This record gives sequence, structure tokens and C-alpha cells, in this order.
Amino acid sequence: MAFPKGFLWGGAIAANQAEGAYLEDGKGLTTVDLLPTGSKRWDIMFGKLESFTPLEGEFYPSHEAIDFYHRYKEDIALFKEMGFKSLRLSISWARIFPTGEEDQPNEAGLKFYDDLFDELVKNDIEPVVTIAHFDVPVHLVEKYGSWRDRKLVGLFEKYATTLFKRYKGKVKYWMTFNEINMLLHLPYVGAGLVFKEGDNKKQIQYQAAHHQLVASALAVKACHEISPDAKIGCMLAAGMTYSYTCNPEDVWDAMEKDRESFFFIDVQSRGEYPGYAKRYFRDHNLSIEMEEADEALLKDNTVDYIGFSYYASRATSTDPNVKDMTSGNVFGSIENPYLEKSEWGWTIDPKGFRITANQLYDRYQKPLFVVENGLGAVDVVAEDGVVHDDYRIDYLKKHLAEMSEAIEDGVEIIGYTSWGPIDIVSASSGEMKKRYGYIYVDKDNKGNGTLNRSKKKSFDWYKKVIETNGENL
Ligand code: BG6
Repeated sequence: MAFPKGFLWGGAIAANQAEGAYLEDGKGLTTVDLLPTGSKRWDIMFGKLESFTPLEGEFYPSHEAIDFYHRYKEDIALFKEMGFKSLRLSISWARIFPTGEEDQPNEAGLKFYDDLFDELVKNDIEPVVTIAHFDVPVHLVEKYGSWRDRKLVGLFEKYATTLFKRYKGKVKYWMTFNEINMLLHLPYVGAGLVFKEGDNKKQIQYQAAHHQLVASALAVKACHEISPDAKIGCMLAAGMTYSYTCNPEDVWDAMEKDRESFFFIDVQSRGEYPGYAKRYFRDHNLSIEMEEADEALLKDNTVDYIGFSYYASRATSTDPNVKDMTSGNVFGSIENPYLEKSEWGWTIDPKGFRITANQLYDRYQKPLFVVENGLGAVDVVAEDGVVHDDYRIDYLKKHLAEMSEAIEDGVEIIGYTSWGPIDIVSASSGEMKKRYGYIYVDKDNKGNGTLNRSKKKSFDWYKKVIETNGENL
């Protein structure tokens, strides 16, 4: 097996899906705090928000989540027992700047993450920190329309700089925006965008994208200046798009779909807008406002590594008769007859993982960090009190085997943090029922349960994987 020495095995979570304590210690309301479970959720995620405060009668899963805010020591002890070398987590912007506009950061918020990082470091677990994982202070959405306004760039820079200064020496791995390409699919989730009647959505989305790309470059610059030993990366929701047939029309369609996502990383990693993006803007009458200094800033401040999530591949066809399977999928895709699907309709494609890793490395020639991968499934606690999640072990085993092949192919991969090592709230559906963890959390979709943690069968399996540095899958 190919895993290098010092490989960063671990798991990944996000503030809004794990912490809870949504207004505690001065935290402000964030976009995710307005996402209920149920039918309204998808409308909001696409940019149709009715109210800037939580509504009576709706259930908001982020408000308590799994209460990681109060239980992180217990959870870290379990991660340590599994042998984690790293934990990827995100900082909630609104814990540090509750409205996003304060002059001074909220000390209680900063202290929470200080204690959390100390606990990790004490347990020899490297924190891998995402600066923005799907949350924006609601105040900035209300006042500026979120990332559609250039104002957010400076506010984000201030937030990121505050973090680099405070956690210098404690955090060595940073990432700017989680799944930055999500902005094009779920604009509220990716960038806090809310649309009004008559808005030119594409124009707003690409303008917001430009603002995030500039903000990301400014964060890279600040990180390199303040904390020269740290590494800062981007983060892509990856997964190659296959052409359904060898019809060149289908092949071109697949290429264009992939470029929709690569666009972001091309800018963050190569430092300039690719020609195909400029053509897309021309063809669609989009005019992106840029400041004179932006071009040089993007060019001079590219990322150190490419973080990415991989759950599934996608497939595309220009033939309208080929079956669509977009339900439950954030990215549109057609049915791939060669592949099975998860209970939420996401294709299961281990080989696609190897292909995707090779594709990314061929394109960027920078170290890759797999910061999300896993199977969302319904778990049943058996009579012996344990979840026997062989299906999860099977999924992960096959993916890790392909990742090891990618490393043999010459792809440089520095770590692997599987998604939701402890059950957390699902980002797309808001359910607890869609579980990824090695650790079961007793809580249901309506918020009932003791929040007790218990080990699933996969716990010991992953422990062995780490212990043997991937020799024993
Ligand atoms: C990624 C996100 O899109 O996929 C995570 O970065 C998310 O926040 C994960 O949880 C899995 O998606 P879901 O919808 O199953 O939680």
C-alpha cells in the first residue's frame, strides 16, 4: 500500500452541522440558522428566503446540532482513540464577528476555538480549518445582499486576518471557502445569496464568485505573511462528469460541466480567469465588475494545496430521452447504469475517486488533500446496542483502495479526512437520519434523543486502517 509516512488520516466536520449553541457566548445568527428541515429548505437553499429570523413552527437543526460546542472534549477523546492525526473543522464567522461588521472580534468566540485547538494539539491531532463552511452572518445578507456586494471582501479579509493572528502556531492547515463551486448550485448555501423577482441570477452568482475569489486571494496573502509556516488551500466539490456516450456532443457537454467547477480552482490555483470562462461570460452577456488590482492579486496569491470532497461521479447526455436523476443530488446527473446509488440517490463510484484525483493532479500539479468522502446512510441500532454498518465499511474500503491506487499513479495526496466521523446534521436535507459517522449520536430528525455517543462497527475498522497506515483496509 502506498500511503506516505505522516499521512493525515482523520475526519471532517463543519461548525454549523456540529456545534449547536447557535446564539451562545455572543454568536450572531448565520445563514444556516435559517435553514429548517422539511419542504422549505430546498427553496431557501436555491435563494428564496422569507424571513431573516427563524419562523415559528419550523425545526432548525443547526440550533442544537450534536452539541459539539459543549461536548467536544468527549468527541475528541473518541477521535484520539481511533488514532486520528487530523480533524478538519470550520470556524463560524458569526462567533468571531457576530454581525460581520464589529470593529473588535468577540473574545468568547475566539476563546472557544482556542480551547478547541488546544485540546486537539494536546491529543496530537492536527487542526485543519475551513474559514467559511456554508455560513455568512445574517446581518450581512440583510444589509448588503451577502457576497453580491464587494463590501464582503474586506469584511472577510478582516475576519480571516483575525484568525491567522490569533491561531498562529496552532493551526498549520487552512482552507478558505468550503466547496466554493457550490455557489452555482445552491447559492444561499454557498454564498448567502437571496434573489428578488427579476434578478439576473447568473450575473449575481458570478459577481459573488469573483468577490469570493478575491477574498480568498487576500486570505492566502495574509496567511502567508502572518503565518509563513502554514499552508492554505482551496476546496472543491469534486467528482468527474462522464460523457454518457462517445458522441462528441456529449463529450463536450461533460467537459463544460466539469469546467463549471474547475473555473473556481483554476483561478485559485493558477491565478487567472481561464479563457473558457471569459467566453462563457461573453456568450451569456455577463459582465463581471473587477477592480484594477484584482488581476495581480489573484496571480500573486495562489493556494498551496487543493482540498476537495469526493462523494460521487456524475454523468451527462445531450439526449433528452436519457433518464435524469437529479432528485436528492445537488449536482444534476443522469443515471449511470454501471453504478449503484446510496439511499439518497448519490452514485457510488470508487474508481471515479481515482479518476478524479488523477484529473485534479494532472491539472494543478499541487498536493491534494481529500477533506471529505463518505456514505450517508440510515443506521439501525441492533439489539446489542451497536450499529453494524458493514455497508459503510464496504464503501470506505473501496474508496481507500482507489485512493491508494491514485497515490501509486503518482498523485501527491497529503491526507484523508472522511466526512462526519461522528454523526452530524446533513447539509442538504437537514436530517440526522443521513449518517456518516463511526460514532453514533442518539438524536432523530425532530431533535429527540439523549445526544449520547456510541461506537459503530466501523469505529474499530477505521482505527485499524489508521494504525496500519492504510495497509489493512
Ligand atoms: C458537502 C459539504 O457538500 O457534503 C458538507 O461540504 C456536507 O457540509 C457533505 O455535509 C455531505 O452532504 P449531506 O447533504 O449528505 O450532508
